Amino acid sequence: MEFQIICDRHFVVGEIDPRLYGSFLEHMGRVIYHGIYEPGHPDADDEGVRRDVLEAVKRMGVSCVRYPGGNFVSVYHWEDGVGPREQRPRRAELAWRSIETNAFGTDEFIRWAKKADIEPIFSVNLGTRGIDEAVQYLEYCNFPEGTYYSDLRRSHGVKEPYGVKLWCLGNEMDGLWQIGHKTAAEYGRLAAEAGRAMKRLDDTVELIVCGSSLSTMPTCPQWDLETLDLTYDIADYIALHQYYGGQEMGTAEFLAQAVDFEAHINTIRAAIQVTKRKKRSKKDIKISIDEWGVWETPGEAVDNAVRREPWKIAPAISEQIYTLEDALLFAQMQMAMLRNADLVKIACQSLLTNISSCIMTENGGACWLQTIYYPFACFANYAKGVALQSVVAGDVYESRQFGSVSYLDALVVWNEAERELAAFYVNRSETEEIKASLQAQGFEVKELISHMVLAAADKKMTNEKDHQAIVLKNCEDGVLERDGCTVTLAPLSFHMVRMRAKKR
Ligand code: AHR
Repeated sequence: MEFQIICDRHFVVGEIDPRLYGSFLEHMGRVIYHGIYEPGHPDADDEGVRRDVLEAVKRMGVSCVRYPGGNFVSVYHWEDGVGPREQRPRRAELAWRSIETNAFGTDEFIRWAKKADIEPIFSVNLGTRGIDEAVQYLEYCNFPEGTYYSDLRRSHGVKEPYGVKLWCLGNEMDGLWQIGHKTAAEYGRLAAEAGRAMKRLDDTVELIVCGSSLSTMPTCPQWDLETLDLTYDIADYIALHQYYGGQEMGTAEFLAQAVDFEAHINTIRAAIQVTKRKKRSKKDIKISIDEWGVWETPGEAVDNAVRREPWKIAPAISEQIYTLEDALLFAQMQMAMLRNADLVKIACQSLLTNISSCIMTENGGACWLQTIYYPFACFANYAKGVALQSVVAGDVYESRQFGSVSYLDALVVWNEAERELAAFYVNRSETEEIKASLQAQGFEVKELISHMVLAAADKKMTNEKDHQAIVLKNCEDGVLERDGCTVTLAPLSFHMVRMRAKKR
């Protein structure tokens, strides 16, 4: 098959916000305990931080991390996780039905974030708690000194405020699995009041309100419209969460779900626009996709599974091992977000370690990289600058659920600072190679920096602890033209083509 990808230096979608390369750490299963924190591990530092994982996180290019949940936050008492460790209570944690030791909490997370060089995104409990506790948590983190909670932080040895800028007002409050689940009207009122109070304490914070927790929720997009209506004045972002499983549908249908993802982003775009016009507002609310990924068992399914397990500390929950095919859908989800870079400003791949994760760990043992780690690292390290509008011309197939789907998914990015043009491709065809010719109008392409490929002999192949079967490989292929480059894409493969270029 032959494809043309046509873009133009003047047709820019928007600036790529570095926070699009975020991830998510929740007190769930082995994400925190044994994931990033494991005192006594041979590679742990003096604070119990796993250095092997930290190095993998840095190489991955993660820019920001959302913490402490997720469903977990809807029952969390943040006060349990600060102060002398020996005095912290053990709790029966209801979201994941496990025993929470609280050995790791806010101060440990911030220290980890500094080591990893990432920006923290905090969430507050609007499930079982409310305005007071949200403001007190903010006071603990951001207030300089001279008040109860800021002095509490100082008494824990932290003199300087943390200055956490991004705060999520609750988590997936539309989900029946959420403890403290609310209707849109109940949630919208509470979020508006909590947000107003938080901004009164610290007017530099930016607030993220809960949107629908999946595009398939029966209340989507009504939930988003109602929430936006009630919170438009205080919100800066609306959250969009999305996971896709469905590997059993077959590869073509499975990969076509990226089309649904983009349609969902567009639906929320429309909800924002409608609300803005309705309110005659000048304010633009952006989207924070602060949970996304490929995951067989999101939401209610995990919830049902953990209910059958005995109470344990850091039990292994839903630890999916990813195939090549999964990595291709994952890459396409990143492309869909970047194609909407004007509106989507934050995105957190969910989760960072052990559950639907890029990085896996063994208790007391090795850490290793899943297939999805590689596309993430490519985008995070090289999709910088601006996303360009592009037209992709070539063959399509008919999917049962999502209509016509191009065999080629493509994204082109221009990084002015590095004079670098980068094209990202996924060949969705199981049988045919694609000859992909990029025509970047208004650019002069000087040099092919690299062409990296993620592919495998078998689409169901996975990486394992002792065997990295699927890693990025250098591809010699690539024919330069004056304003682009032609590459060959093997069936079911992901590609990153980096070119040195200048504007004409
Ligand atoms: O990421 C795991 C869970 O998935 C989160 O706690 C929740 O927000 C989502 O349903």
